[in-house]
Amino acid sequence: MTTMTMTDKTIFERRESEARSYCRSFPNVFSSARNAVLRDESGRDYIDFLAGCSSLNYGHNDPDMKAALVDYITSDGVTHGLDMHTSSKSAFLKAFEEIILEPRGLDYKVQFTGPTGANAVEAAMKLARKVTGRTNIISFTNGFHGVTMGALAATGNGYHRGGASAPLSNVQRVPFDAYHGDEIDTAQMLEKMLDDPSSGIDTPAAIMLETVQGEGGLNAASAEWVKRIEEIARAHGALLIIDDIQAGCGRTGAFFSFEEMGVSPDIVTMAKSFSGFGLPFAAVLIKPEHDIWGPAEHNGTFRGNNHAFVTARVALEKFWKDGAFQQEVQAKGDYLKQRLEAIADMVPGARLKGRGMMRGVDVGTGEVAGEICKRCFQQGLIIETSGAHDEVVKILAPLTIEQDLLAKGLDILEAAVAEKFSAHKMAAE
Ligand SMILES: Cc1ncc(COP(=O)(O)O)c(C=O)c1O
Repeated sequence: MTTMTMTDKTIFERRESEARSYCRSFPNVFSSARNAVLRDESGRDYIDFLAGCSSLNYGHNDPDMKAALVDYITSDGVTHGLDMHTSSKSAFLKAFEEIILEPRGLDYKVQFTGPTGANAVEAAMKLARKVTGRTNIISFTNGFHGVTMGALAATGNGYHRGGASAPLSNVQRVPFDAYHGDEIDTAQMLEKMLDDPSSGIDTPAAIMLETVQGEGGLNAASAEWVKRIEEIARAHGALLIIDDIQAGCGRTGAFFSFEEMGVSPDIVTMAKSFSGFGLPFAAVLIKPEHDIWGPAEHNGTFRGNNHAFVTARVALEKFWKDGAFQQEVQAKGDYLKQRLEAIADMVPGARLKGRGMMRGVDVGTGEVAGEICKRCFQQGLIIETSGAHDEVVKILAPLTIEQDLLAKGLDILEAAVAEKFSAHKMAAE
């Protein structure tokens, strides 16, 4: 029997930057993981409702992706090849074309950027400016697109913007769907502003949005609103960029979060679960007519992670060859909604947020949401908050989570909420 040496945790405080974050909420030392369970060094299991912030839609260490990757490494497959042709890249592109693009009638060129979501967003914004010769990009309240300077300019979050310590420019922000409540049509507001040459909004190179704002509080745009935004973009010669980094790869049910909305974005950004296995991997999907980059114009040393090509291909072959997985995700999403409705009923004024397997409950304040998540962690559930005030308890379980584990995690959440609100409930009775 092997005995695990317990890590001396002072190393993290002594040597790791103050920028560290999730490890402050979940300070255990984790040593292994399988599908929706993370195990710490003491052998305690935690149900993972964070899933690498939607980077692990297919769970931790999927056995088929792992086997393909181990085979690839064992046979000396190319690990780093800059952006040279490799057999793993060609196999991935072929699978992406056959399994994702062609059945959906989509025609995109694939640009592999540096491996983070922010890098894909930077590339998308630069390309839209290059295509249109304009500088302004419209983004939305509570949107989150990354923290490098260009992407951060499009990000709404005040805390992250504050970290820039320099002007964030060339982006104008307008209200997202239902930002002012259901009665105010924010698409109409944007249309009027763009139609008015004296509104002060510069004609944009692009309008960029998330269909479900992940970090911004699980605000789900309606299909009608997204369609209207597309029409407005077209009317003003601007490109439509959909940032599908968090909502894509099945998180809302379909592979792309927009594919059932009847829109045709000019540019789509992908990262997080795109590798399937949690490996760093990002890409920009570009309508061919807009692919006007010169060679290496947006370059980077780590463009196209060959290990990720292997696992991403297996993910497509395993989960997206037919509609079974999408149906399974939709069924789990319905179950999640139903359970969250019951949980929200316990919280005065609570609201359900999100769609598919990207849902949560707005419990009113960040303090309450934080307390609930803390109680959950004590009971063996890893779960985080999102939203402008961290007021939304957010569930991002792996899409592959076993039904009984999903139920068990939700039981823990329900108990934590009940414990917090039992006093209030008793008073009301
Ligand atoms: C919608 C969206 N875009 C971009 C990003 C940035 O990705 P990364 O953290 O990999 O730079 C994120 C990260 O949470 C995101 O949710």
